[in-house]
Amino acid sequence: MATSISFVGLSCFLLSLCLVCSLKEGYAFEELIESYAESYLTHTFEVSSLFASSICNHSTKANERESTFRVVDKYGPCFQPSLHRSVVPPSLTDIIRSDRARIYSIQARLSKNSGRRDLIVEPNSLGIPIIDGSAFDTLSYLVKVGLGTPKKDLSLILDTGSRLTWTQCEPCRSCYKQSEPLYDRDDSNSYVTIPRNDPVCEYVRRPVDPPRPINLCSYEISYGDGSVSVGFFSKETLTMSAAEKINSFLFGCGTDNKGPFNLVAGILGLNQEDASIVFQTAQKYNKIFSYCLPSSTSSTGHLTFGSQTPAPAGIKYTKLVAEKSPFYGLDLIGIGLGGTKLNIPESIFTTPGTIIDSGAVFSYLPPVAYMTFRDKFRVAMSAYPLIPGPTAAIETCYDFSKSTSVTVPEISFFFKDGTIVGIPGKYSFIEYNTTLTCLGFQDGGDKHSIIGNKVQRTMEVVYDVPGQRVGFAPNGCS
Ligand SMILES: *[C@@H]1O[C@H](CO)[C@@H](O)[C@H](O)[C@H]1NC(C)=O
Ligand SMILES: *[C@@H]1O[C@H](CO)[C@@H](O)[C@H](O)[C@H]1NC(C)=O
Repeated sequence: MATSISFVGLSCFLLSLCLVCSLKEGYAFEELIESYAESYLTHTFEVSSLFASSICNHSTKANERESTFRVVDKYGPCFQPSLHRSVVPPSLTDIIRSDRARIYSIQARLSKNSGRRDLIVEPNSLGIPIIDGSAFDTLSYLVKVGLGTPKKDLSLILDTGSRLTWTQCEPCRSCYKQSEPLYDRDDSNSYVTIPRNDPVCEYVRRPVDPPRPINLCSYEISYGDGSVSVGFFSKETLTMSAAEKINSFLFGCGTDNKGPFNLVAGILGLNQEDASIVFQTAQKYNKIFSYCLPSSTSSTGHLTFGSQTPAPAGIKYTKLVAEKSPFYGLDLIGIGLGGTKLNIPESIFTTPGTIIDSGAVFSYLPPVAYMTFRDKFRVAMSAYPLIPGPTAAIETCYDFSKSTSVTVPEISFFFKDGTIVGIPGKYSFIEYNTTLTCLGFQDGGDKHSIIGNKVQRTMEVVYDVPGQRVGFAPNGCS
């Protein structure tokens, strides 16, 4: 079950010795020629551990902390034990399509912004042509929140790219189907309306045809995929797992909602704008939050606010790039295999820049970097049969069903300030079914590189806005 790290000495210059090192002949040879690496980092994991069980196994971390929410995967038994079979997981093709729409809109917003903060536009709402499909149907990490008094438990999409938090709200004019009972403002004694002339009403865009009564603050949020939520911008009490509360939390009480939200109650916005939960709770938690995305669909993670003392063991920080706000930008300069940085010019990465995102499923690299990386990864993995993926874009897939364990080279991100972050072994892959497991990286075109959600699994990722840094620590969920 546990991923183990082994250091395989490559200082052996004789081919016969290298075979003893149990590495692939061609690869060992190539490494020797290219880098004369002293050591080669690999991770070994059991194939059986790739696939989730049908019973939810709760992580303990969320119970140990006060200001924390539980995080679950929409497509497993931790979301809705009885219903989860009806939430059909997306195909890899759907994931790629949805990811690309998301990256396209992040890119468009960053180039349009050029430093200017724009409170109106969400990712995917730029009126630019979005590739068919949507950006929300494949987002699978959900935050379990308690809304209102008495609290209603709701699962919202964890989105570092969104600003506004909203949920479907009774009395509803038009609501899509969700798995949890709808939040009803009439059943809560902590629901507070916001007058239209309140300064916080500036955080949201007023609908063209506002719902009645028109003296209240109403909002409309529309996304490029055609999803929309319209309703009243309001205040409520938000309860975390350990009963810690956020009072007067600003959220969208959506009475007209549509979109491919696939049974999920709404969105929790974590970007760097005033309406986001991060900025709203600045007084209390100082714009510091962290999450651990669960290892599988049958385990849980957490989303925690405020700084942790002591800091998570083994945490490494890298600089947060202010110019990429409202998204979270990082200064990626390279990618490594086996612990050694691949020979790719830094400007390939730094020219467009890099975003760390909770929504994109795959990770995306610029074309030149991707191709170099993919080729070397395949050589390193040549002990395993490479099989065709479900679509041309998903081209590095393996059938591990004949193996009991798999040894994968460490994939690492190299940052400008010298920080190196290694991906925990098997999370370099996206497991699809027992005969199909694919490398979790894609060619992202000439857009920003994206550190997507699957490679972040089990790490505690700390976002420290005042410190302008992002930290990565191992074993963040358990
Ligand atoms: C549940 O998770 C813990 C910690 O990750 C692990 O040690 C344990 O084996 C898991 N239990 C089951 C039944 O999978
Ligand atoms: C895994 O998925 C692929 C692509 O959809 C399919 O061709 C293959 O038959 C599946 N294998 C199993 C064991 O379900």
